[in-house]
Amino acid sequence: MTLTNERKEALEKTYQFYLHHEAILKMKEIPAHIGSNVYIHTFKVVKKVMKKAIKSHKNLDLENLLIAAVFHDYYLYNWRTTKDRPHPHGKYHPGIAAENAKRDFNISEESQRMIKTHMWPFNFFNPPKGKEARLLCNVDTWIALVECLTTRKHKIKKADKYINYISTLF
Ligand SMILES: [Fe+2]
Ligand SMILES: [Fe+2]
Repeated sequence: MTLTNERKEALEKTYQFYLHHEAILKMKEIPAHIGSNVYIHTFKVVKKVMKKAIKSHKNLDLENLLIAAVFHDYYLYNWRTTKDRPHPHGKYHPGIAAENAKRDFNISEESQRMIKTHMWPFNFFNPPKGKEARLLCNVDTWIALVECLTTRKHKIKKADKYINYISTLF
């Protein structure tokens, strides 16, 4: 889909707002997928989701999709060391992330819905509905898989590259 300059600028502005927000920066302290952290993982997902959404010829709700991608893993605890949390993590963290995002940023119902289904098929009876939710689920699964298959050493070596990569949306 072709974006007007105004829409592109607005999306970049939203992206930058969350990228530097104090509450979001806290995700840097939460480890994810061997040597990575939830902050880096999140913005890698945001970038890929938005790139694919814009490249597709479908008319997608980019604004709500961007927010859903930013908050999809906003569960805010280390699931490996936190004892007082619902099990299994894969099934329950999308609901917790959506609740936290609603509490802290009052995100839309649409974005919450997309977040809640991003771990399908973990939450088997709640599959993603709509193109945006499916795209978020697919991209997150793919990025998580690649992160799990990459070594810690490789991630540490590429840390600066990741920071540079996520520094802008476009
Ligand atoms: Fe997740
Ligand atoms: Fe994720």
